[in-house]
Amino acid sequence: MPEFQTNTQGHLTIGGLDALELAKEYKTPLVVYDVAQIRQQYQAFQDAFIKENLDYAISYASKAFSAIAMYQLIKQLGGHIDVVSGGELFTAMQADFPMSKVSFHGNNKTYQELLLAVQNQVGAIILDNFYEIELLSQILQSTKKKIKVMLRVTPGISAHTHQYVQTGQEDSKFGFDIRSGQAEKALVQVLSNPQMQLIGLHAHIGSQILEVDGFELEIQKLMQLVSDWSQKYQYQPDILNLGGGFGISYTQADTPLTPATFIHAISQTVRTNAQKFNLKIPTIWIEPGRSIVGSAGYSLYTIGARKDVPNLRPYISVDGGMGDNIRPALYQAQYEAVLARAPLQEPQEEVRLAGRYCESGDILIDSLNLPVTHSGDIIAVLATGAYGYSMASNYNRVGRPAVVFVENQQSQIVIKRESYADLVRNDCFYHLKKDD
Ligand code: LLP
Repeated sequence: MPEFQTNTQGHLTIGGLDALELAKEYKTPLVVYDVAQIRQQYQAFQDAFIKENLDYAISYASKAFSAIAMYQLIKQLGGHIDVVSGGELFTAMQADFPMSKVSFHGNNKTYQELLLAVQNQVGAIILDNFYEIELLSQILQSTKKKIKVMLRVTPGISAHTHQYVQTGQEDSKFGFDIRSGQAEKALVQVLSNPQMQLIGLHAHIGSQILEVDGFELEIQKLMQLVSDWSQKYQYQPDILNLGGGFGISYTQADTPLTPATFIHAISQTVRTNAQKFNLKIPTIWIEPGRSIVGSAGYSLYTIGARKDVPNLRPYISVDGGMGDNIRPALYQAQYEAVLARAPLQEPQEEVRLAGRYCESGDILIDSLNLPVTHSGDIIAVLATGAYGYSMASNYNRVGRPAVVFVENQQSQIVIKRESYADLVRNDCFYHLKKDD
């Protein structure tokens, strides 16, 4: 179960503040981040790299949670970010994030997005396909600019929670396939373009990974490739970007590894393979998203209706749901939740935590043990900081919640709650034809 703290009254606290007070002040549904936890996670990766004596970059995968305040925080920590759209890039620009520390991902970046990236001289465009190489060359020609790039390759490994599978030729929409020779063809194209500076190779093997094996295999594959290419083309990239995917604890079933364990395994494998293939030790980049913000986020909801059906679990409905956290409905993702006024109290009953949206599948937690609850009680769903708010929608024309950062026992709104007026802001009146 994800860890949580309580105060002397026995209430849940977030970053030292009483969750009930936060709910009262900012209303619910509310997403609250404990900023100290975000910093700790980032620093744990950083400390691990320093301990392993590797050159590194920690590039926060901002799709997990993107907001001006979040980019400000990563900037302060000295980190890099990855963005996957013009919108994320624009948000980072608003935060005055250093563009040299931005890498731009995506399997279908548009001309306009690539142009924005080139004009702002992002640190790396991570090339994903031949169409993109062509678009980017056009942009570089017309702007007469140069840009750093990496090649995203599909090494034929995908890591899933408890095992990794080696699929040979990966059936994925992302990246250049290694085995069929696409990656090599891309390399030749990029090396022959003087306006593109190829700084590294990238791969990403999956999400919520709880083992080191997938990363070890990924490194072996990438370094084998680097060795082949260095012999054939006398080219060796400086950077190996291993992507993200470091798993966290959502429920008791998850046994996450520490950043230190992951980075140690990565370091060992990199060193062994550098020796084996007689290569220099590359700079290692990682792109953690979930593991930076996931555990730091809490979703606070107010209980409304209760429905008791004989011989079935009671349905306890809250004022949010799939609009602010689509993950249970979309991936059958599991979460734990606690009653904010008494998270340590013995559970009395097993309930189903339902969302407020008009869809039967809008169930946040299928089976949850809770003390006796009442309408008006605050429920906190734990570890919702990654891919919760960032995947939120306005389904049923419900506004997205507010997001609050808590640090040093102080709270601050970082994204306002959407109002009814916000919901119709982009609607335009239709000029109806008059009936005669
Ligand atoms: N790098 C690349 C190239 C990625 O595609 C991703 C995630 C990451 C890094 C960050 O992975 P993380 O460390 O956060 O696992 N919406 C899904 C997750 C989608 C992940 C997509 N790519 C979810 O809610 O679980």
